[in-house]
Amino acid sequence: MTTVALIGATGHGMWHRRAIAALGDRVRLVALGDVRPVEDADVPVYADHRELLDRHSPEVVVVCTPPHTHLPIARDVLAAGADLLLEKPPVLSLDEHRALLAAVSASGRALQVGFQALGSPTLAALPARVGTVTSVALAGAWWRGDAYWKRSPWAGRSSVGGRPTMDGALCNPLAHGLMQALAIAGVRPPWTLELERYRTRDIDVEDTATLRLTGPGGTVVTAAVTLCSDEFVPGDLTVTGTAGTATVVYPQDRLDGEVLPGRVSLLENLLDHRADGTPLLVPLERTEPFTALAAAVMAAPAAVLLPRERLAPHPDGDGLAIPGIAGHVRAAAARGALFSEIGALP
Ligand SMILES: NC(=O)c1ccc[n+]([C@@H]2O[C@H](COP(=O)([O-])OP(=O)(O)OC[C@H]3O[C@@H](n4cnc5c(N)ncnc54)[C@H](O)[C@@H]3O)[C@@H](O)[C@H]2O)c1
Repeated sequence: MTTVALIGATGHGMWHRRAIAALGDRVRLVALGDVRPVEDADVPVYADHRELLDRHSPEVVVVCTPPHTHLPIARDVLAAGADLLLEKPPVLSLDEHRALLAAVSASGRALQVGFQALGSPTLAALPARVGTVTSVALAGAWWRGDAYWKRSPWAGRSSVGGRPTMDGALCNPLAHGLMQALAIAGVRPPWTLELERYRTRDIDVEDTATLRLTGPGGTVVTAAVTLCSDEFVPGDLTVTGTAGTATVVYPQDRLDGEVLPGRVSLLENLLDHRADGTPLLVPLERTEPFTALAAAVMAAPAAVLLPRERLAPHPDGDGLAIPGIAGHVRAAAARGALFSEIGALP
């Protein structure tokens, strides 16, 4: 039985607590770490993660804290001799990426990044349907109301207490679709990035965006995303290749309308890696294109504030949405276009 600790125990950490519990006898949760009080904990809780590591020496640690805390906590976990499941986005820049890679290498431990869409069985099934990939387009239209943007100190922010952080539609909620698109396309920098970022509220990141990224070999990734939609588009990837086109709906493991069984849990994959050397699904190296793209998004000109007359109350309440944006998201993805090119947004 493998001993596990979770650092960052509320927020999305609640999901990890359930996932750890669901593994039954395979793991034993020994401690939680959180700077805030944790209710209903049945193991010791530590405000200082270093004390947790000292006292319990867990074999595996799940880190689910805000992005700007990832690098120092991940380094401490690896130095303590534990294997690590680190939530996405793993780090904020390519410098941090290199620093964390060095820490992994120096420790000899394993690091898995929590991009769970890379555990989807749709990925292995794609090459037979599409051949060599030439383009991937992501369409995602979600609703995140006012409460979402107040959920944490880093919500909607590009820095916290003077330290850069990473939120926004591209880098956080729709990050899984973006990571999956990059992995399917196989693009890496250097690339050409065209990007349009918008916001509907008092935040300093984008809640709506389009981007087009052209890799050195000509492969194109387009993304059209919003968190301001009154109609839901889960995150549809249209993958075009030399042998055809396929549609992947990444949150549902749906390939051309068929739900494929066999989603691999990233924590179980990490446990298998420890047990018998099964390859990690999401080693840090695989996430480098995402970090490069996210860093470019963070460094880009500020998101454009959409005028009030473009917005209307969401039918469910809790804030203003962009009427018709789901249609624009679908159209931009279908044409591989930016919102401005289809006349959807300025
Ligand atoms: N994989 C997914 O589907 C998914 C979904 C949501 C969030 N996330 C990721 O999970 C991470 C956490 O997101 P969240 O929305 O739960 O954030 P959050 O702001 O709610 O923070 C999570 C917890 O971390 C604690 N925390 C903050 N700083 C800490 C520190 N230095 N040491 C210990 N605990 C600390 C907070 O008190 C909180 O309980 C982020 O990286 C986010 O992108 C992933």
